[in-house]
Amino acid sequence: MSSCSFSVAIVLVTFLAFHFHGSRAQLNSTFYDTTCPNVSYIVQRIVEVAQSKDPRMPASLLRLHFHDCFVNGCDGSVLLDNSTTILSEKDAPPNSNSLRGFEVIDVVKTVVEYLCPGVVSCADILALAAEASVSLAGGPSWAVQLGRRDGTTANFTGANTNLPSPFDPIDVLKAKFAAVGLNDTDLVTLSGAHTIGRARCGAISDRLYNFNGTMMADPALNASYLATLEANCPNGGNETTINNLDLTTPDSFDNSYYINLANSEGLLRSDQELYSVGSNDSFTLTAGIYASNQTAFFESFALSMINMGNIGALTGTDGEIRTNCRLVNAN
Ligand code: HEM
Ligand SMILES: *[C@@H]1O[C@H](CO)[C@@H](O)[C@H](O)[C@H]1NC(C)=O
Ligand SMILES: *[C@@H]1O[C@H](CO)[C@@H](O)[C@H](O)[C@H]1NC(C)=O
Ligand SMILES: *[C@@H]1O[C@H](CO)[C@@H](O)[C@H](O)[C@H]1NC(C)=O
Ligand SMILES: *[C@@H]1O[C@H](CO)[C@@H](O)[C@H](O)[C@H]1NC(C)=O
Ligand SMILES: *[C@@H]1O[C@H](CO)[C@@H](O)[C@H](O)[C@H]1NC(C)=O
Ligand SMILES: *[C@@H]1O[C@H](CO)[C@@H](O)[C@H](O)[C@H]1NC(C)=O
Ligand SMILES: *[C@@H]1O[C@H](CO)[C@@H](O)[C@H](O)[C@H]1NC(C)=O
Ligand SMILES: *[C@@H]1O[C@H](CO)[C@@H](O)[C@H](O)[C@H]1NC(C)=O
Ligand SMILES: *[C@@H]1O[C@H](CO)[C@@H](O)[C@H](O)[C@H]1NC(C)=O
Ligand SMILES: *[C@@H]1O[C@H](CO)[C@@H](O)[C@H](O)[C@H]1NC(C)=O
Repeated sequence: MSSCSFSVAIVLVTFLAFHFHGSRAQLNSTFYDTTCPNVSYIVQRIVEVAQSKDPRMPASLLRLHFHDCFVNGCDGSVLLDNSTTILSEKDAPPNSNSLRGFEVIDVVKTVVEYLCPGVVSCADILALAAEASVSLAGGPSWAVQLGRRDGTTANFTGANTNLPSPFDPIDVLKAKFAAVGLNDTDLVTLSGAHTIGRARCGAISDRLYNFNGTMMADPALNASYLATLEANCPNGGNETTINNLDLTTPDSFDNSYYINLANSEGLLRSDQELYSVGSNDSFTLTAGIYASNQTAFFESFALSMINMGNIGALTGTDGEIRTNCRLVNAN
């Protein structure tokens, strides 16, 4: 090798080393292969037990990851309780009396801390639990990207402003997704998570009794479905009574969410808005493809979950590995 090409090689190696150290580390699916090789298996088994006791639990765990990622990125901030330094996101209106599954995450953390102390972040446990939940409910599997670290702050204001509301019009939903780097395909695809789980009457009572200030029901609601919902959620009744998000197969992760939309049987305003009967806008077309092709939905869902899981991930030496998912580590 001539001295000239040798120094070119040195410069190149130095550049590459600097480039890879200088840029943000990427998540990957093998992050714990040597440090905690059984972590995915442990999460799956614990979620499976939780599902056997409560068929709604996979839905609740999937939603926890979503509500984590949309607020200061996927950093486990949603799990933090109140403390002297933390104003918990759990008390923000989109989360309060609504998010569930914290105890299941605690069980996973306890077991994982016993087997691989100080190694696995709470943010990664949420990502693994979301995948296990979807898969155990009958949906797709995917290689979960790992290596996130836990944040040391919560963002109560972020939980109020960043999370989509069921009352948001479509343009606001798009903007809230775009703000975290997710596009319209991610929006229509990830909304398919509502093929499992429940929503409180309070999330839909306006659609039943006073849509958009009209004192009438939402005209986009199927008449027989409207009657069913009105029976379960009487006007002025208990707003915490729950409804299945998917009226046909409430605990199965399948494509029926999109079939329901085509029948004007989406539960939330934000669901039905993705599908305009008789239209060929891009949302309706995509939802129509998913309604007729579950494989297409499953493949897209896995990709969009990976996109969502990349939001604002802390890596390298940023943040910490929490010992208890509810508390920032003591200094
Ligand atoms: C597109 C904007 C979205 C809006 C407006 C929205 C809104 C809601 C609302 C209002 C509920 C019911 C909460 C309650 O009444 O307690 C709910 C439940 C749920 N959401 Fe969403 N959501 C959206 C997107 C997502 C995404 C992206 C995911 C996950 C990828 C997701 C997963 C779930 C699940 C699984 C449930 C049921 C939880 C349970 O039964 O415990 N949602 N959502
Ligand atoms: C996964 O990411 C970690 C941290 O960035 C890195 O040390 C490891 O080499 C990566 N593994 C692969 C297969 O890229
Ligand atoms: C993970 O743990 C389970 C239960 O202890 C065990 O059956 C399984 O073989 C382990 N898997 C690996 C890859 O170590
Ligand atoms: C957390 O603190 C806030 C502000 O003091 C309070 O409103 C809220 O009720 C607390 N939450 C819990 C669970 O104690
Ligand atoms: C909290 O979230 C809001 C809304 O996304 C953002 O403007 C603010 O900078 C965040 N605060 C912190 C301390 O991260
Ligand atoms: C959204 O991003 C994905 C890549 O993650 C891409 O395949 C898709 O075409 C994009 N959709 C839109 C509407 O831009
Ligand atoms: C709600 O009402 C406003 C005017 O009062 C109207 O401009 C808007 O189109 C309505 N939205 C829907 C979804 O009906
Ligand atoms: C509403 O129902 C919940 C459980 O379904 C119950 O705990 C609560 O006390 C009820 N509230 C009222 C005002 O009846
Ligand atoms: C209402 O729902 C029923 C049952 O799913 C369906 O057969 C019917 O076509 C729907 N009507 C409309 C207008 O979508
Ligand atoms: C479908 O889209 C095309 C091109 O965007 C438009 O010309 C046509 O009118 C649309 N048809 C319906 C039923 O909306
Ligand atoms: C369904 O979607 C998958 C994945 O995109 C595709 O390979 C397959 O050809 C589609 N099937 C039909 C019948 O369109």
